[in-house]
Amino acid sequence: MTQAERVRGLRVLVGNTPLLAIDFQVDDGPTRRLFAKAEHLNLTGSIKDRMALHVLRRGYESGALIPGAVIIEATSGNTGISFAAVGRALGHPVVIYMPDWMSAERKALIRSFGAEIRLVSKEEGGFLGSIRLAEELAARTPGAFLPRQFANELNTEAHVLTTGPELLAQLRAMGLVPGAFVAGVGTGGTIMGVGRALRHAHPGVRLHAVEPANSPTLSTGHKVGKHRIQGISDEFIPPIVYLDELDRVVAVDDGDAILMAQRLAAQLGLGVGISSGANFLAAMAVQDELGAGAVVATVFADSNKKYLSTDLMHEEPVKPGHRAPHVTLTGVRAFNRVCEICVDPNDPTSAPAGLFTATRHGVGATARG
Ligand SMILES: Cc1ncc(COP(=O)(O)O)c(C=O)c1O
Repeated sequence: MTQAERVRGLRVLVGNTPLLAIDFQVDDGPTRRLFAKAEHLNLTGSIKDRMALHVLRRGYESGALIPGAVIIEATSGNTGISFAAVGRALGHPVVIYMPDWMSAERKALIRSFGAEIRLVSKEEGGFLGSIRLAEELAARTPGAFLPRQFANELNTEAHVLTTGPELLAQLRAMGLVPGAFVAGVGTGGTIMGVGRALRHAHPGVRLHAVEPANSPTLSTGHKVGKHRIQGISDEFIPPIVYLDELDRVVAVDDGDAILMAQRLAAQLGLGVGISSGANFLAAMAVQDELGAGAVVATVFADSNKKYLSTDLMHEEPVKPGHRAPHVTLTGVRAFNRVCEICVDPNDPTSAPAGLFTATRHGVGATARG
């Protein structure tokens, strides 16, 4: 099998997620609706699969990634899991540097996907230390491939080309125009990429980055305090984040995010991670400003399975100002995956059996999903 064929097979397992429409009430208020891409349904259970596959694919195309070369990345977890799984599926050794305080599930999963994991303590520099050590190893390893997710515009491009257009098509199918998109910022690839795709189609759409109120890196420019929303707000503003392209940053308390993620699982059966709870609350806050009928969308970046050993699985104390306890989730509807994106009309092998037939002029569609 060629690398291109392997990549094509993986593309079927990554992205093109359903769009969830979630109905809820705040106290006795009117029924409202928010939209979220179900990114927990990706190959390894997170949105980072999109970025990993796109960066590796472009690496082959540019010649920067040679088949069999070692992939070295610094990550707070989901990216490591994605590069481990996708990298191994494509036949690469993978080395992941990550801070040692990330959840036990993240570490175990990276190892289970056959990657080598190097844990970096706070004394060794934590997150920034992980990036430095990854760069140092790559410098002394011939042919090594460094995705550099925090500085790599291909991370953003993954969402410009997939997440954004999918969201637009799914909303369009319901006759809806997005009023705002919100997303927690880890590398910022999601907010910048989806944001650009949405603004291209609807220049007036509002774009809000989300950060933990307990550790507001984006607002301050550096690491302050501690928080439990793994995957967002690392220790610096990533170079691919352009705050001047975005509207105001929305802050969410990590305890509130935990309470909201717990409610999404307990009331709707949506087993999502802590950043998804934060994104939901931030989307709600933006909708408060725009009006109850505004179309506000976000992402559920990962599933709750990576948090079994964390506070997500324990009773979380309610504090004054928490909003999640006032939210009653009344229903969820899932909107279909987008077939225009999952099937490449020029490539019959990308289609499910029976969807396309060969014609005299090439390939023609016989049915729509
Ligand atoms: C759980 C979770 N939520 C949100 C994000 C943020 O996504 P991005 O890096 O595209 O900003 C990440 C990134 O790793 C994540 O792991």
